[in-house]
Amino acid sequence: MSSSFVTRRTFLKTGSLAGAAVLTGGAAGARRRQGPVVIASANGAGCVAEAMRHIQEGADALDAVVAGVNLVEEDPQDTSVGYGGLPNAEGVVQLDSAVMHGPTGRAGAVAALEGIKYPSRVAHVVLQRTDHVLLVAKGAQAFARMHGFPVENLLTERARQIWVRWRENLSTQDDYLPPHGPDDIDIGEAFKRTQEHWGTIHCSAIDLGGNISSVTTTSGLAFKVPGRVGDSPIIGAGLYCDNEVGAAGSTGRGEANLESLASFLIVERMRAGDSPEEACLAACQRIADQTRLRRLQNERGEPAFNVSFYALNQAGEVGGARIRGAGGRMAVADGDGARMVELAHLYD
Ligand code: GLY
Repeated sequence: MSSSFVTRRTFLKTGSLAGAAVLTGGAAGARRRQGPVVIASANGAGCVAEAMRHIQEGADALDAVVAGVNLVEEDPQDTSVGYGGLPNAEGVVQLDSAVMHGPTGRAGAVAALEGIKYPSRVAHVVLQRTDHVLLVAKGAQAFARMHGFPVENLLTERARQIWVRWRENLSTQDDYLPPHGPDDIDIGEAFKRTQEHWGTIHCSAIDLGGNISSVTTTSGLAFKVPGRVGDSPIIGAGLYCDNEVGAAGSTGRGEANLESLASFLIVERMRAGDSPEEACLAACQRIADQTRLRRLQNERGEPAFNVSFYALNQAGEVGGARIRGAGGRMAVADGDGARMVELAHLYD
């Protein structure tokens, strides 16, 4: 952690920080920009390297982060984002994405978008070529087609098989049957949700001009109710950036973040003087405080789910935190190259 910041929540477990800058006027007043720097969720190792390559060639931070996440959107092996993402309950891949551009303060987003491999690019065009911020479902797809995006089948064979397995094991009360033998009874047990069902990629960057931008893109919660929209395309929830302060984004249980608008909270905490890591931990604590339903808690009354946050400030400091468990990581690229950095966490 930067020596400029005193850790005020010593009861919280903290991970390491990278790219730390020595601020010259306190965090809120610091104007010395360091950079460039790129951060992303743990599935963004290639993303941060790609975004940094664009930035080093002079790209605007928003163009760079969108180019970075495009690598993951088009990757059929990543079942949480774009092409190859796990579908909704009806087997349809519905994608959410948002972008925010620090220099102009503008944002663009799409939600429940079907058939378009690069939702982050569509979100970028919403920002550039409309007077709106968020387009959804059929309207979003029509807009994408208008701007030349091809409509494709995004359901890979791998994702289809996982969806069929989920559907066939959902209930013993319906007529969908998983593979079974002649002596089997009570065929089909509840399919256990895993962390993988909330995968997403977030990426934020500071470019050579010291400008900040962000993107978040996802296929959302696997097997979701059709039409469900998570936090990723909601400005202030899945991401937020302010060119004079910093940027933040999230992955994990979107419903918890939608109810706390944690990315906005993180940026405001950094404006008030928190380091990125402190601000991310404060967001985790906010969600924990708001999680009052027993069905969402473990036996100790803690959130039983995870949400992870990633942040950078205008001085080039980076940090992140998640609600549950050591071992969380984020990807960082800066003048020292690309590497993984440990997330702080609220609960073991
Ligand atoms: N955080 C991604 C989602 O909940 O859809």
